[in-house]
Amino acid sequence: MQIMAESLSPEATYRLMSGVVVPRPIAWITTVSDDGVVNLAPFSCFTFVSNKPPLIGVNIGRKAGVRKDTGANIHASGEYVINIGDATQLEAIHLSSVEHPPEVSETDVLGLATAPSRIIRTPRLADVPVSMECRLERIIEFGDTGAEFVVGEVLVFHLRDGLYRDGKVDTRELNPVCRIGGPNYASLGDIVTLRAVGQTEKSVLNRNG
Ligand SMILES: Cc1cc2nc3c(=O)[nH]c(=O)nc-3n(C[C@H](O)[C@H](O)[C@H](O)COP(=O)(O)O)c2cc1C
Repeated sequence: MQIMAESLSPEATYRLMSGVVVPRPIAWITTVSDDGVVNLAPFSCFTFVSNKPPLIGVNIGRKAGVRKDTGANIHASGEYVINIGDATQLEAIHLSSVEHPPEVSETDVLGLATAPSRIIRTPRLADVPVSMECRLERIIEFGDTGAEFVVGEVLVFHLRDGLYRDGKVDTRELNPVCRIGGPNYASLGDIVTLRAVGQTEKSVLNRNG
């Protein structure tokens, strides 16, 4: 079967792409509005962009053409926290996508505790394995629907005790959850370890070409 991309509506394309680009990790983002309301929402168009400085990116769409609270708050404050929930928190992750008005805090509605961040004003979730304090680096708009790719620099990594050993994250301990198509999620299955492939040093600071 072949589908000509231009024959698909934006909705159909969204369903196709979000079924194909799987599994996606979930950035569980806290932001603060101008009025001081803590907003929380999940975003699975999420990836890492650079390691020096550490940059991570999230694609934030619009609802009926208007910026989502998360996008609006990031534009206004220039900062946010990307929290990584674990599989035990799946229900709360899902429910935090309910469209509450900006004056309602999803952390209050869901009874999720927050903790102060170290550098930024936006609080992090207290009971997650990982939180990353981010300062906005840049926002790039793509496509016809006003979706924005929001790239932030991680200033502080908060890691639950025992999760990070010998410079590596223990993935079983992290117990991550991912989104597949629609309201479908998956947790970690088998971990298969292959022999490492020798690779040229990735992280030299001067470029050649
Ligand atoms: C698991 C999950 C992943 C999501 N990923 C995205 C995403 O990558 N981009 C996006 O714009 N919306 C995504 N959404 C929808 C937003 O979470 C939803 O629009 C939410 O109401 C936005 O909240 P806000 O207005 O408080 O920012 C996702 C929803 C769920 C449940």
